[in-house]
Amino acid sequence: MKLPESQKTILETISRDEAIPIGEIANRTGIAEETATGAAIDLENEGLVEIETETESTIHLTDEGAKYREAGLPEVRLYRKASELASGDLTVSLDRVTSELDMEGEQVDIALSNFSRKDFGTIEAGDITVDPDAAVEDDSEASSLEAIAIGGEIDREALRALERRGLVRKEEQINRRVRLTEEGITALMEGIEIAEGVGQLTPEHLTSGKWRDVEFADYNVEADVADIIGGRTHPLREMAERVKETLVGMGFKEMEGPHIDADFWIHDCLFMPQDHPARTHWDRFALKSPNKIADLPDDLVESVRRAHHEGIGPDGEGYHSPWDEDFARQLALRGHTTSLSMRYLSGTQADEIEPPARYFSVEKAYRNDTIDATHLLEFFQIEGWVMADELSVRDLMGTFTEFYEQFGITDLEFKPHYNPYTEPSFELFGRHPTTGELIEIGNSGMFRPEVLDPLGVDCDVMAWGLALERLFMLVTGAEDIRDVHGTLVDLDFLRTQEVNY
Ligand code: PHE
Repeated sequence: MKLPESQKTILETISRDEAIPIGEIANRTGIAEETATGAAIDLENEGLVEIETETESTIHLTDEGAKYREAGLPEVRLYRKASELASGDLTVSLDRVTSELDMEGEQVDIALSNFSRKDFGTIEAGDITVDPDAAVEDDSEASSLEAIAIGGEIDREALRALERRGLVRKEEQINRRVRLTEEGITALMEGIEIAEGVGQLTPEHLTSGKWRDVEFADYNVEADVADIIGGRTHPLREMAERVKETLVGMGFKEMEGPHIDADFWIHDCLFMPQDHPARTHWDRFALKSPNKIADLPDDLVESVRRAHHEGIGPDGEGYHSPWDEDFARQLALRGHTTSLSMRYLSGTQADEIEPPARYFSVEKAYRNDTIDATHLLEFFQIEGWVMADELSVRDLMGTFTEFYEQFGITDLEFKPHYNPYTEPSFELFGRHPTTGELIEIGNSGMFRPEVLDPLGVDCDVMAWGLALERLFMLVTGAEDIRDVHGTLVDLDFLRTQEVNY
């Protein structure tokens, strides 16, 4: 029998009685471990050896985990310092606590998000209030961190949280042990010659013409190789791209425009009175140095003002509250991308648009929400509208059905809703594939004449804002938006999550 040299050497090194670990074979023969593994797998395919495989997993602290083990988890440090500095009502300014802790930027974010997640207290308007009954001293993540370092009981839930935080890393290692088979023994007894297998073609082979005579070794395409972790597009970004392709396929054109915009485009054009609770309720993100938009089309400002004061049509009834142009010019981070729809429908952002037309955007919107499993402070909104002469709610429902079907979602539910700018309006719901819960995935309606008339649009416009993250959750089964993007996202998720549809 002819075998490549490494295979022959391995056969001569192992025995029938005892399975020998690959590492030891590599040591004894001087063959690199990966080569020895490949050779052993080839030998197994020839039936000359048997390989026993076992997977061993070990858990290690990452550098960050080791740092926190030393210094304490940031949220625990935050709690302790706040308790120490807090006055009678257990409240103290957050700035003071973090500066005394000498904590900044990212560390503060980590401390805050975990402080809230663990219900150590509350954080509001720059103040932190500690809960005196919080289970800080026996925090299971802290004790598990210690246990991983020196041995002891590891809480499974805590371990998962630590992994998600990137404080520990699980490593899986495949251990292989190799032993001779009867056939292997026979082959050895009959004698093995070395096959001159060439693993790699060299320039010499080519210049000397030797390549004609040598025998090239087969590639083993099933052999294990080291994982190579390259960069990839974030799964949510992949989803966004997929949504864009879908909408383009349905005949839509893309809108673009500023993330920071005038209240005029974000609210006033949408017939939202300036004292509407949502204008503070959505708690817009104001800018550090407040500023006003310089250019707004005068005639549009005038027609929007008139719509707010007098309403539209002979029976129109405006809001009986003041309308202030200065207030409308204030800049803020947009709380929805409907500001873009207003810019486009008014003919300000692009050319005047004639019906029939369809537009969309998949862009960020910013809201000062309370962070939880379905809310972050920013999200991607799938904005869209269709302009045509005769449109009804049926057209709107049909468009959603067609759109969501392309992501395998066929059980949409609709619920009547109220928006100051659409009539009728309805919300959309979809069922979460693993929890079975109905989750809100969007909001929609037919723009009112009070919105369209000032914009100079004299046909029907149906419109919506859908949440990309919610679609992502329905498609992938993700249960917590914080597992999808933000500081707590697991690297493994980013490396392996597929966005299949
Ligand atoms: N702006 C709405 C939201 O953010 C979505 C929407 C857009 C609803 C257009 C109706 C029409 O929830």
